[in-house]
Amino acid sequence: MRPRAFVFDAYGTLFDVTSAARDAGAGPHWPQLAEDWRRKQLEYTWLRAIMAAHADFAAVTADALDWALEAQGLGTDRVLRARLLALYDRLSPFPDVLPVLTALKAKGARMAILSNGSPAMLDSAVQAAGIGGLVEAVLSVEAVGVYKPHPSVYALVEAQMGVPPSQVMFISANGWDVAGAARFGFTTAWVNRLGAPIDRLPHLPARILPDLTPLPDYV
Ligand code: LAC
Repeated sequence: MRPRAFVFDAYGTLFDVTSAARDAGAGPHWPQLAEDWRRKQLEYTWLRAIMAAHADFAAVTADALDWALEAQGLGTDRVLRARLLALYDRLSPFPDVLPVLTALKAKGARMAILSNGSPAMLDSAVQAAGIGGLVEAVLSVEAVGVYKPHPSVYALVEAQMGVPPSQVMFISANGWDVAGAARFGFTTAWVNRLGAPIDRLPHLPARILPDLTPLPDYV
């Protein structure tokens, strides 16, 4: 199928979520800090969705960081905490992002971002990465007040872009996000940058890519 729209997950797919901990001067334990921060952040989104206790992604990200800092014995370092949160608003994009989105745009592809991020966080990261002019929409779960993989999140694409699920290619590095999107009816591409095992969830990805570079071939 030739997709009518390419819809990207943000964190982990376009933006390297480990870059904040790497660049903040968090010391030798930064990889563990980055891993704990991300894992807790995602857990909190899923738990808040199940508990019907939504808080936006900025709040969840700060909560998860507090857990991760305390786990590393850094719970009292308010300067480091502030630096990490500031860096999260301008995460490094992966090196393939700008060239691939530019190539897709040159071929006339319609593109959007669909993310757990709050609108302000996404706007900041998109501007910092220089991709604001390439995507026609940046869709946030805040419009529905529940996190991925709730189906109402994926429904935002047709509501905002007018493209039915069967004509959407959804691209995510998060295997659970791919499963949720495929269950909703999107054609999916799982970006497996780290060679991770595939998630044991229903709805396998239609494609598994090492990075974003094959995408312009699908236009
Ligand atoms: C997002 C999370 C899944 O951007 O990384 O929606």
